[in-house]
Amino acid sequence: MTENPERSPSPEFSPLAFDEGLTPLPEYKAAGDTALDFSGLLNEPVKLHEDLKSGCGGQLWPAGMVLAKHMLRYHRDALQHARILELGAGGGIVGLTVAKGCSLSSPLYLTDQLEMEELMHHNIKLNNLEDRVKATILNWGEPLPQEIVDYKPDTILAADCVYFEPAFPLLLQTLQDLLDLCPSATIYFCFKKRRRADMQFMKTAKKTFQVTEIEDADRAVFSRESLFLYTFSRKR
Ligand SMILES: C[S@@+](CC[C@H](N)C(=O)[O-])C[C@H]1O[C@@H](n2cnc3c(N)ncnc32)[C@H](O)[C@@H]1O
Repeated sequence: MTENPERSPSPEFSPLAFDEGLTPLPEYKAAGDTALDFSGLLNEPVKLHEDLKSGCGGQLWPAGMVLAKHMLRYHRDALQHARILELGAGGGIVGLTVAKGCSLSSPLYLTDQLEMEELMHHNIKLNNLEDRVKATILNWGEPLPQEIVDYKPDTILAADCVYFEPAFPLLLQTLQDLLDLCPSATIYFCFKKRRRADMQFMKTAKKTFQVTEIEDADRAVFSRESLFLYTFSRKR
């Protein structure tokens, strides 16, 4: 893979890229379509095309599943008038589930790197959500796109975005930029601890943001898989 020095680093989906492994990464999957209704929480299932050809975001990751279900179960009504943006959306599991299950009054943004743009558009179309969901490029650590600055998201979704150490400061910068843009915003953050360095990310996050571990009826189940669910907000 050739690196573009202008761009923020992008991780490789390779078990070799992860040392000190605590828990394994998802297995490589063949490309295909999946339909999920989150134990009946969605009347009509959300459809996801998974394809790893453009990068690791091309398949469903465990934190995405946890966050999508959490948002449906606990925030469906409150999200109706929210301005929602998903970071590191990959195929868009969390954002598309929210758009499918909530009657949103504003468009929802899926964001990721250029490599994932095609898959985000594909999955928006697969769910007939073209009028309610937009896909845009947002590279962590870079200035927020003007479209996002104008939109001022107040609800940020981020699932399984902590897995590649060189990107940690970039992600923290983007989270900070989003809270500067909308100081009352809430970031819903779900991650899976795979390496000791992941806890370093959380340590820095706790210094920078108000970090709250949030309740979920499935917590006992997902915490056994080293999955954590938090909100980040501006420090008081
Ligand atoms: C592990 S995947 C998670 C995908 C999805 N959120 C889920 O839970 O299934 C992480 C995503 O972060 C994106 N990503 C990694 N580095 C990034 C960066 N510097 N800027 C923006 N997105 C990035 C990847 O392209 C990938 O889609």
